Amino acid sequence: MDKPEKFIIDGIRLDGRKPDELRPMKIEVGVLNRADGSCYLEFGKNKVLAAVYGPREVHPRHNQKPTTAVVRFRYNMASFSVEERKRPGPDRRSIEVSKVSREAVEPMIFTEYFPKSAIDIFVEVLQADAGTRTAGINAASIALADASIPMRGLVSSCAVGKVDGELVLDLMKDEDNYGEADMPVAMTPDGEITLLQMDGNLTREELKKALEMATEGCKQIYKLQREALIGRYKKELEEHKEDVELVETITESEETSIESTTTVNIDESGGLDDE
Ligand code: CDP
Repeated sequence: MDKPEKFIIDGIRLDGRKPDELRPMKIEVGVLNRADGSCYLEFGKNKVLAAVYGPREVHPRHNQKPTTAVVRFRYNMASFSVEERKRPGPDRRSIEVSKVSREAVEPMIFTEYFPKSAIDIFVEVLQADAGTRTAGINAASIALADASIPMRGLVSSCAVGKVDGELVLDLMKDEDNYGEADMPVAMTPDGEITLLQMDGNLTREELKKALEMATEGCKQIYKLQREALIGRYKKELEEHKEDVELVETITESEETSIESTTTVNIDESGGLDDE
C-alpha cells in the first residue's frame, strides 16, 4: 500500500481505532502438547505462537552457568508471514529481536532456582502486521507461566508511535511503515521497563506522554494475559471436577480432624497449667 495522505481523520485512525486504543487481542494458552508451556496470540492481524521448554539440560554443556539458568529466546518469522516472502532462517533483524525479547522477559524469571539448566523460548510469527516483537513478548510471558517457570510476574508489551504529528498506541503496519516514530516498550506489572527501543524522533514531552500511553496499554494487556491464564486452569479444573471435589472432601475431613486434635492439645496444656 502507498503512503496514505492522512493517518488520522476526525480523531479516528485508518483501522477505526482511537489514538490511545490497542488492537484486539486473542489469547489461547497451552496449545502445544510437546512444549512445557505454550501460547497462541493474535494482536490485531499479528499471529504468533510461543513455546517454552525447560528447565532442561544445556547443550552444548560449555554454555551452562554454574549458579543460574541460561535463558535462550529464538524469534523467527515464517516465510509466509509477510507480504514479500521472507528468506527462511535467522537474519540481522531476527537476531536483534531475539536478543531484546530475551532481555525483556529474563529479569522476571527466578533463574537462580535452576543452576546449570536452560529455559528455551521459541516465538514463531505466522502472520505479521507490525508489532510482532511486542506480540511475541506477550505470548512468551504467558507460555513461561504455562510451563510453571517461577516468575516475579508477567511481562506485557506494546508500542507507541507518531503519525500525522500525533502519538498513537500500538501501531499497525501502515502506521509503522510510514509513521514518524515507533517505540516498542515492555514492562512488568509494577511498571518497571524491560524493553525500550526507538525508531524515529520524539521530543522530550512526547517521550513522556508516549511512556504514559505505553504504561496504560501494558496494563490492559496484563489484564488479558492474566485472564487467559486463569481461564486455562479454570477449564482444567472443570474437566477434573470429580477429582477436585474428592480432594476438597479429603481436605475438609483432614481440617476437621486437625481441629479436634488441637482441642485435645489445648485441654491437655490447660491441664498442665492447672497443675
Ligand atoms: O514487527 P515489529 O514491529 O516488532 O518489527 P519491525 O522490524 O518494526 O517490523 C515491522 C513490520 O514490518 C513487521 O511486523 C512486518 O509486518 C513487516 N516486515 C516485513 O514485511 N518483512 C520483513 N522481512 C520484516 C518485517
